[in-house]
Amino acid sequence: MTKGKVDALLGIVFGDEGKGKVVDWFTPRYDIVARFAGGPNAGHTIIFGGKKFVLRSIPSGIFDEGKLNIIGNGCVIAPDLFMAEAQELEAAGYTLSDRLIISRRVHLILPTHRLLDRAYEAAKGKDAVGTTGKGIGPTYSDKAARTGLRVGDILHDFKTKYSRLKARHEQILADLGFTDYDLAEEEARWLEGIEYMRRFRLADTETTINQALDAGKNVLAEGAQGSLLDIDHGTYPFVSSSSTTIGGVCTGLGVAPQRIGRVFGIFKAYSTRVGAGPFPVELFDATGDRLRDIGHEYGAVTGRNRRCGWLDLVALKYAIMINGVTDLVMMKSDVLDTFDTIRVCTAYRKDGQETQTMPYDTTGWEAVYEDVPGWQTPLSELRSETNFPAAFRRYIDYISQATETPISIVSVSPDREATIILNPSLKA
Ligand code: IMP
Ligand code: MG
Repeated sequence: MTKGKVDALLGIVFGDEGKGKVVDWFTPRYDIVARFAGGPNAGHTIIFGGKKFVLRSIPSGIFDEGKLNIIGNGCVIAPDLFMAEAQELEAAGYTLSDRLIISRRVHLILPTHRLLDRAYEAAKGKDAVGTTGKGIGPTYSDKAARTGLRVGDILHDFKTKYSRLKARHEQILADLGFTDYDLAEEEARWLEGIEYMRRFRLADTETTINQALDAGKNVLAEGAQGSLLDIDHGTYPFVSSSSTTIGGVCTGLGVAPQRIGRVFGIFKAYSTRVGAGPFPVELFDATGDRLRDIGHEYGAVTGRNRRCGWLDLVALKYAIMINGVTDLVMMKSDVLDTFDTIRVCTAYRKDGQETQTMPYDTTGWEAVYEDVPGWQTPLSELRSETNFPAAFRRYIDYISQATETPISIVSVSPDREATIILNPSLKA
C-alpha cells in the first residue's frame, strides 16, 4: 500500500503571510491537519460561513467536518486561551472533541510565563524583542531547562506540580523586581481551562500520525510565524522561540524526513514584519504607509502596526534553501495594483560590501533594489491566469527565476475564490 505523506504549509518570511486565506484550498486535500510549533502567538484569521475566526492553537482543518486535527508535541498551549478559542468554535456549531487531538508532550503556558515574558521584555529595555506577550519564550525556556509542565502532567497530581513551577516563577519575578501583579482571576480561568482540556483526546500524537501515514493518509503540517522568526535560522535574538522551519515539522510532529512530501512556502508580494529586529527593506515613507493601508497590515493578535517594505529576495531565497520549498504561494498580489513601479530587494549592502546570501548579523544592512514595472490594473476580479496583465505575469516569472522555484499558487483578493492555481500538478 502506498504510504501517505506530510506536506508542509510554511510562512517563509516574518509571519502574517496570509495562510488563513488559503487553508480552505489545502484542507480538503488532506486527512489530517497538524500544528507543529508555536502557540497563541499565532493568529490565523479565517472567514468561514461569513463569520470571522482567529485561530491561535487549533489547526485550520477544524472547519472541515471530516478532518482530524492535531496539536503536535512541538507546540505550546495556554489552557485559558485554548478554551476561549474552542468555545467560540463550539458556539458557532463546530464539534471539536472528536476531531481534535492534543499531544501529551505539548508544553503548558502558565499565567506566570506571561508575566515572565513581560518582565524579561521590560528588563531588555530598548533591546526588547517586541514579543506578543503570550509567554512563548519563557515556556520554551522551561522546556529546554527541563522544568516545564506538559499536557500529560494534567492527568496526574497536577496541582502539586503546578504550585512548584509557579513558585519558581514567582521567585524569578521577585528577583527582577516585578511584583506588581494580581493573578487571581487569570489563574482561576486558567485552571478552568485545564479542566476543559480533559474532554479532548490527549494522546501520543507521533504514533497517531505515523500510523495514519502507514495507512495511506495524508497530513498537512500547518506552520505558524515565519522562517525568519525561527529560533535557529531567524534574525536572532529578534525571533520566536520555536523551530518554525521544515526541521520543526519533523521534531514537532515526530515524523521522519522521508515522510515529507511537498513544501509550500507562503509569502506576500511585498514584505511586513511585526515586532523589533532587522528589516532591511523597511520603508519609513509614504510608500510604506501606502502598503500598510492597502494591505491592512495591522496585527491579528496584538493589533500593532506592521512594518512594511518591498519584497526581499535575499530573505526569500534563504528561506527556500532552509526549507526545501517545492512550491511558492504568493499572497496579496492585488495590494501592488496601483504602484507604477515595484521594487524588489536583490542584495544587502553595508560598508561598500554587498551580499546576496543571508548574513549572520542582519543589522545595519541597506537594501539594494531592482525596479520592475507595475501592472496598474486591478487584479481582484481575476479567477484564472489567462487574463493576467503582462506586467503581473512578468513579476511572477521574475520571482520564480530569481528563486529557481515555481510560484504554484497566487492570491489576488481577500475573496476565497481569488486563489489561482498556476501549477498544473495541483489542478487535479
Ligand atoms: P513571541 O513569539 O511572542 O515570543 O514573539 C517574538 C517575535 O515574533 C516578535 O517580533 C513577534 O512580533 C513575532 N511573532 C510571533 N508570532 C508571530 C506571528 O504569528 N506573526 C508575526 N509575527 C509573530
Ligand atoms: Mg498572524
